[in-house]
Amino acid sequence: MNGKLIVFEGVEGAGKTTQMQLLIHYLRSSSWKICPLVATREPGGTALGVGLRRLLLEPSTGEFVSNRTELLMYAADRAQHVETFLKPELAKGSIILCDRFTDSTIAYQGYGRGLKLSLIKQLNEIATDGLQSDLTFWLDINVETGLTRVRARGGCDRMEQANLEFHQRVQKGFTELAQQNPDRIVRINADRSESEISEEIQAILSHRLENWGYLNN
Ligand SMILES: Nc1ncnc2c1ncn2[C@@H]1O[C@H](COP(=O)(O)OP(=O)(O)O)[C@@H](O)[C@H]1O
Ligand SMILES: [Mg+2]
Repeated sequence: MNGKLIVFEGVEGAGKTTQMQLLIHYLRSSSWKICPLVATREPGGTALGVGLRRLLLEPSTGEFVSNRTELLMYAADRAQHVETFLKPELAKGSIILCDRFTDSTIAYQGYGRGLKLSLIKQLNEIATDGLQSDLTFWLDINVETGLTRVRARGGCDRMEQANLEFHQRVQKGFTELAQQNPDRIVRINADRSESEISEEIQAILSHRLENWGYLNN
């Protein structure tokens, strides 16, 4: 059976990384017959991508990065990730958990930076060769709550340093994407305890896994 691509999306501090780790722990310790299970992220899911991630996210060096430069760097990261990691893993039958994917580009570079959505959708199509997530968990959190969490963690990256209005536009992007793609994107109220959120994600994923024909025994 072909694998599945499960994506975590949301603004800074929504809990994507935390919830991915909790889900990996759950899947590894549960009786779901899932093997192999891999975790990855964008940007930075390949060796080339690690370099691009550093260039994209390291706190500003003072050099102005144009919006279109940023967009194309994310697209290059994605094209490499899809071609050399995601597609081969899916062909092997892996369940992939991925921290951010195409919706982040629409939300950040489209709604956030104000680049044309039709252009971004076209670029996503080129970068993914048409690959879409099978299921996306959108961790919906108030922007200020998320940023407070991130700032408490310390060491903000270039995106986390952007102003509040930028992050609010990004949030609007995720909200509209979820409305437009109700089958693919599941909204999760992320303003709860880690364990409450994790239990809901486990329940939703278990249901999907069953529908996809995975065995739980
Ligand atoms: N449900 C939660 N409630 C409170 N704090 C949380 C919750 N989930 C994650 N955190 C904390 O918030 C910070 C950001 O979480 P993280 O998972 O890194 O978010 P993201 O990957 O979406 O930016 C971390 O310090 C994490 O420990
Ligand atoms: Mg994270």
